[in-house]
Amino acid sequence: MKRSKILGVGHSLPDRIVTNEELSEVMDTNNEWIVERTGIEQRRWFTPGVDTVTSLSKKASLQALERAGIEASELDFIVFATITPDYYVPGNGVLLQRELGIPGIGALDIRNACSGFIYALSVADQFIKTGMYQRILVVGAEIQSSGLDKSDEGRSSAVIFADGAGAVVLGTSSDENSGILSTHLHADGTYAEELYCKDPGSSREDRFSQELFDSGSFFLKMNGNVVFKHAVVRFIEVINEALKANNLSKENIDLLVPHQANLRISQYIQQKLEFPDEKVFNNIMTLGNTTGATIPIALSEAWEQGRIKPGDLICLAAFGSGFTWASALLKW
Ligand code: COA
Repeated sequence: MKRSKILGVGHSLPDRIVTNEELSEVMDTNNEWIVERTGIEQRRWFTPGVDTVTSLSKKASLQALERAGIEASELDFIVFATITPDYYVPGNGVLLQRELGIPGIGALDIRNACSGFIYALSVADQFIKTGMYQRILVVGAEIQSSGLDKSDEGRSSAVIFADGAGAVVLGTSSDENSGILSTHLHADGTYAEELYCKDPGSSREDRFSQELFDSGSFFLKMNGNVVFKHAVVRFIEVINEALKANNLSKENIDLLVPHQANLRISQYIQQKLEFPDEKVFNNIMTLGNTTGATIPIALSEAWEQGRIKPGDLICLAAFGSGFTWASALLKW
């Protein structure tokens, strides 16, 4: 069976930098609390009228295509991970496809929040392995800031989430020893309401009523403690699962790129795995948590900084709303 491989990676961020000090002017929070609990010092938020999920993902995709050395017209398919599409319907894959000027190819949206990019990568990997497609654009992009509750009530989520986009071009590997070795996907819907956005839910008499707006049910709600406790267990579990499936041990990993949920979660995982700093990539300090976009943005930044080299064993891992969690092991 063919193996798939990342041929190029890119990312794009909105220009607007939002510091912790700026947030403390609109809600009851402060720099010390945010840095101590989350590690975040600043994040990027979009500018209305300038950035869209489509425009950010287009820039990320063009960079990934350029680095892969292929034209958009050579793509066979798009898999787009986002929970914050520009339109409620249709999904964002078709909007990106239109912007890239490649009508006709299929475009699929994935709604698995923080694990969305690894789910998307896994779907693309299956299509390439079976020979159905040769070149797939896999995207993770979000604009979270427009949907955050920026009052005191929403502060524990509002300080965490942010905006940005990342993309990879997945193609067929010419070397059977390099590329995606395996992906591992999990979910437990028991915890669906621990991190969720209830409305506009369809099972409502009037899903866009003023009453619902006023109740705050359109905002993302997070039970931070529960998320934290499950995340630290599942991250370790799913990383070990990937290693075991490939008869590898943690010492073989050159770089772990965890979903940027919270710096404390990444540090806990690092400590459990007994990894030195150079083996874990974090950028949440400056970019916040961009949900489905954190992993491709981190991959792109790590690649730019020379922290990913040909032949390196890279482990991607994520946990988030659902709960869902996932990992991917790849030889660069
Ligand atoms: N600024 C200042 N104080 C805040 C605050 C903020 N932004 N948000 C919450 N607080 C307050 C709380 O109201 C609470 O006050 P109280 O003790 O007077 O009741 C206090 O800080 C502690 O709140 P708590 O929620 O227990 O803090 P925590 O240590 O659990 O940290 C999170 C909160 C959200 C940072 C933490 O639970 C977390 O990171 N969880 C994981 C979240 C995550 O990774 N989400 C993404 C998943 S993909």
